[in-house]
Amino acid sequence: MTLFYQKSVILNVVKDLFLIKKMAKIRPECNRMGLSLLKTAKSVILSETKELLCKKPAILASGNWTVEIIGKYSRLAGLTFFFSGINGEQSRTNGVKPMARRKITVVGAGNVGATTAFLAAYQQLGDIVLIDIVKGLAEGKALDMAQASSLCGYDCKITGTTDWSATADSDIVIITSGLPRKPGMSRDDLLAKNTDIVKSVTGQVVRYSLESFIIVVCNPLDAMTNAAAMISGFANNKVMGMAGVLDAARFAYFVSEKLGINPADVDCLLLGGHGDEMLPLPRFTTVGGKALTELLDEKTIEEIVQRTKMGGIEVVNLMGTSAFYAPAAGAVKMAKAIINDEKAMLPCCVYCDKEYDVGGYFVGVPAVLGAGGVEKVVELDLNETEKKELAVSVGHVKELVDKVREMI
Ligand code: NAI
Ligand code: 2OP
Repeated sequence: MTLFYQKSVILNVVKDLFLIKKMAKIRPECNRMGLSLLKTAKSVILSETKELLCKKPAILASGNWTVEIIGKYSRLAGLTFFFSGINGEQSRTNGVKPMARRKITVVGAGNVGATTAFLAAYQQLGDIVLIDIVKGLAEGKALDMAQASSLCGYDCKITGTTDWSATADSDIVIITSGLPRKPGMSRDDLLAKNTDIVKSVTGQVVRYSLESFIIVVCNPLDAMTNAAAMISGFANNKVMGMAGVLDAARFAYFVSEKLGINPADVDCLLLGGHGDEMLPLPRFTTVGGKALTELLDEKTIEEIVQRTKMGGIEVVNLMGTSAFYAPAAGAVKMAKAIINDEKAMLPCCVYCDKEYDVGGYFVGVPAVLGAGGVEKVVELDLNETEKKELAVSVGHVKELVDKVREMI
């Protein structure tokens, strides 16, 4: 059965949805209000559509263009149900293929993976596929998340699976599969085992989602990102690693504690690999436009820098395994920047050649993320000390990547 919509109804709804979305973008705190308005909008659309159906097709004078506009805005507003129809058959609109939601695959349904899937669903980033090798694990967690839909206000499809074919045509694949650190272990201790895992997982990504963007999360982060890039052969802008956003968030939190301000008001930058040699950058970290070096004394800054570098192991030592809430939030922030074409400047592990004299490796630097993936590497005007420290950190990444090369 073909479903037509009455033009005036559609245009009003589209206008409202657009306003809600715009408002939520300008004032993120309006999101909650926006969501409840969206819920109302949904029930309005549902009842109006039912009414139209009863009256038999109200034929649109202008046909397909309207369908396309609705597709765009209903997806923007997370209203794909518009196209999934009141029941399946009604979803086909005048022979025009509806726009699909984004599809995000999260590999690994452990602590980081499951939390990533949950946060991505909560933010309505798209349909989610959670995959793991352990039978039942991803399926169970996905079902649990799906059962929370009406409570949390998301309506995306969440699938748990061990079958890679379910991930086909993903827009973004987030790789969290890998062993986490235990007390006494460094991130580098994970190298051999996690290289094996990344090798097998990336092979499946190439097989099923050749057009996707890959966000690597498993450790050692920089080496695993280089591995995923080498194995996939994807263009450099399509592969990136998540660590800088996490380390910067930790830095911001520690600064906010000292200054007694909101962590979101601290603009942090850092460079280098996700290891003990990472470089939090106090000179480039600002609060209300003022550099941190003007706000805190040298000793306090040094303490915060050291605590940031040890941010991961501090959590490991407390709970016996590595962090997952903040890491998952970091991965979702990157995915969201790509999906929404945010052009957001985020510290992440991306390909650098001439930039910072890296010479063709993926390392942590500030980069602009948007619809094109990594759209730009941002070069900071470093002083001599910062340059030297970065070279040490990059040197360590290169050593690990050389070992990885022998393993793949
Ligand atoms: P976890 O042990 O809770 O979960 C890992 C999951 O991966 C397990 O469920 C396991 O069955 C699955 N897995 C293993 N091989 C797989 C394969 N071939 N295909 C699909 N799934 C597979 O570990 P957690 O805490 O979630 O950490 C995951 C990784 O992320 C670790 O390597 C950890 O070090 C890293 N990590 C990285 C951070 C970063 O900032 N980049 C921050 C936190 C963790
Ligand atoms: C973290 O920084 C272990 O890389 C992980 O929490």
